[in-house]
Amino acid sequence: MPCAIHVPGSQRPVRPPPLAWEHGCFLVRAHRKGDRVELGLKGKTVIVTGGGSNIGRGIVLAFAREGSNVVNADVDEEQGQRVVDEANGLGGQAVLVRTDVTDWESVQAMVSQALDRYGRIDVLVNNAGGTPRARPFIQKPRWEWEKEISVNLWGVINCIRAVVDHMIDRKDGKIVNIASVSGHSGFAAYNLAVYGGAKGGVISLSRALAWELGRYGINVNVVCPGWIVPESPEHVGQGSFWKQWGYDFYTPEVLEKAMRYWPVRRLGRPEDIADAVLFLASERASFVTGQTLSVSGGLTMW
Ligand SMILES: NC(=O)c1ccc[n+]([C@@H]2O[C@H](COP(=O)([O-])OP(=O)(O)OC[C@H]3O[C@@H](n4cnc5c(N)ncnc54)[C@H](O)[C@@H]3O)[C@@H](O)[C@H]2O)c1
Repeated sequence: MPCAIHVPGSQRPVRPPPLAWEHGCFLVRAHRKGDRVELGLKGKTVIVTGGGSNIGRGIVLAFAREGSNVVNADVDEEQGQRVVDEANGLGGQAVLVRTDVTDWESVQAMVSQALDRYGRIDVLVNNAGGTPRARPFIQKPRWEWEKEISVNLWGVINCIRAVVDHMIDRKDGKIVNIASVSGHSGFAAYNLAVYGGAKGGVISLSRALAWELGRYGINVNVVCPGWIVPESPEHVGQGSFWKQWGYDFYTPEVLEKAMRYWPVRRLGRPEDIADAVLFLASERASFVTGQTLSVSGGLTMW
């Protein structure tokens, strides 16, 4: 059983949300509370890369709930379209543009389609990324390193380069890059050295661009997720790390043990990342740039 925890201000210990291992998947109960905060994202055009699966799906749905126009730029057409269909029932507008972020021409074509359709791009969320497999550096074949660098670092560079002229012309734009706690912690990059290196590159790139682009009204920030567990296998695409390997590593025992040591005694879910992204994409964060926000339940603290 998960251990009891204390909630500040409460006299009695409470138990974290129960976890159930069903259909080969951990269910993470969402426990949201509080009123909506108006973020002014209605009618904004937002590109989310890799929006078909897990975290990206959570981000696409969150912007759709805010009434944004969302371009889901995912290489997985089937899963990407499924999320777009869900998003279109939530108030905003969403469209899938099949995109391979590692391919410069594909990225340019996606940005042109977004501009043709909506006339402007307000927000870019570079979420597409991942690793083919976690294993020791010396055991990894070269193609896995190349893939990690290509999607996690080149993908971000390509997408920023493709939207930035437009944002400079408009003197307005928000860029949010999804890196990882592996990008700033050796512990979190265990068995993920090159992936961690690529994510560290995203953090440094973001700081450098924040300096360079701030004068044009463009903010560049980073969100570093900790373990973010999909709530259902339906919420991840075929290519997802979680579908391929994640559940081999993160068994109920491992996850429960982790929960016992993390300051916030629960697992992360896509909405946790989406909430941070919504804030950084909004005018409420207009004085925030070059920052790296760890959304990891306290797994890393800098
Ligand atoms: N889930 C976690 O625990 C976790 C932790 C830290 C960081 N992250 C980062 O968060 C982001 C999302 O993670 P996730 O768990 O949702 O991953 P995921 O594998 O479930 O989803 C990734 C999505 O990106 C798409 N994608 C992959 N390659 C692409 C390409 N070349 N072009 C366009 N789309 C592509 C996939 O089709 C998929 O829809 C990634 O950048 C990942 O590195 C995740």
